[in-house]
Parts: sequence; structure tokens; C-alpha cells
Amino acid sequence: MQNTDLKTIAAQRKSEIKRYIDDVKQFIPPETITGDMLNSIKQRLLLLATHKNLFNAETFPVREGDGTSSLYLLSEESDHTSALYVVSELKGNMSPPHNHTTWAVIVGIEGEEINKFYKFSSPPNDNGKAKIQEYASTTVAAGNGITLMPDDIHSIHCLTESPTVNFHFYGKSIEHLPNRKAFNMQLGTYKTFPANPHIYK
Ligand SMILES: [Fe+2]
Repeated sequence: MQNTDLKTIAAQRKSEIKRYIDDVKQFIPPETITGDMLNSIKQRLLLLATHKNLFNAETFPVREGDGTSSLYLLSEESDHTSALYVVSELKGNMSPPHNHTTWAVIVGIEGEEINKFYKFSSPPNDNGKAKIQEYASTTVAAGNGITLMPDDIHSIHCLTESPTVNFHFYGKSIEHLPNRKAFNMQLGTYKTFPANPHIYK
């Protein structure tokens, strides 16, 4: 593609991201968010995901040396709220069950990502113990998505041969969420879940 075409597409991408952020601001309250508000955000993010010429695995690849996933921060406010990412994954990428300590909306652009959801059978205690059990799962792909409240627990599993690309939109950027927990279902333990180190801005 010519340089001028790439510049035009980059300008369109920037403009669509700004329109998205401007539109969803009305749904984001300063304090507690509700499931209905998250659903409204999800509907708007699904619209953004239809711009496949702007958001795709070619533009946002898993970068060499990153293993099975790379994150691209597209937008955030100056206080790191309303953080929008493109997350690219390859087959085999997975996360342990974890919470986010902020709300989250995930929407598919291409490929497929299995999301499993968990509930506590024994909540976290100060000794690093917590028991969880899976209660549901769904596949995030183009045209659908999920919403998560700050305490909700999920894990992700990318099992498809073709690249998977999703939007992740968080109440706060994951680099500023130091208290996220990752759970070990077999051992009945938890520990701090650090941010993915492969984030591009
Ligand atoms: Fe997550």
C-alpha cells in the first residue's frame, strides 16, 4: 500500500477512535457503572469493530518476540481511565482466571477467543487461598462481545489457527491496576496478576 493511503487510513482510524470515545463518554459515570451502561458501551464498540479496514491482524500483529499476544493501546484519558486496546492473539494464547478491579468490555474483530467465567466457592483470604468454579463460557468473535464488572472473573483461550483480534475497553488502563488477582483453580490459591508486558502505544 502507498504511503499516502496508509496515512489516510491512519487518519480514519484516529477519527473513528475519537468518535467512539466521544460517544461512550455519556455512558461512563464518575462513580459506579451498571450492567446496562456496559451493554450500551458494548453496542457502540461492536460498531467500531465493523471497520475491518482500520482494525485487523495485519495492522495489529502479534509482534515477533512477544509469544502469543500483543496489546496496542489506542486511547486513554490523561488519568488513564477509558483505556481502549486492540489485543492480538495467536493459537495457544491463554490467561489464567483473573479479575480486573475495573469494568471491562471485550468485543471480537476477527478470529475466536473462548472466555470462561468463574465464581467463588470460597472467596480470597489473607493467606493467598481462594476457590473458584467455572459456571459458564462463551466464544468472542466478530459481531459479539462480553462485559465484565470489576470483580467478575474470566479466563481466555485462543484455539483457532487464524489470528484473533479483539477490542478491550477498560475503566482504567491495565498498567494502572496493581491489584488484579490471578487464580489457580487446582491449587485453590491466588496471586497478583501483572499486566501483559507487550503493550504498544
Ligand atoms: Fe481479562
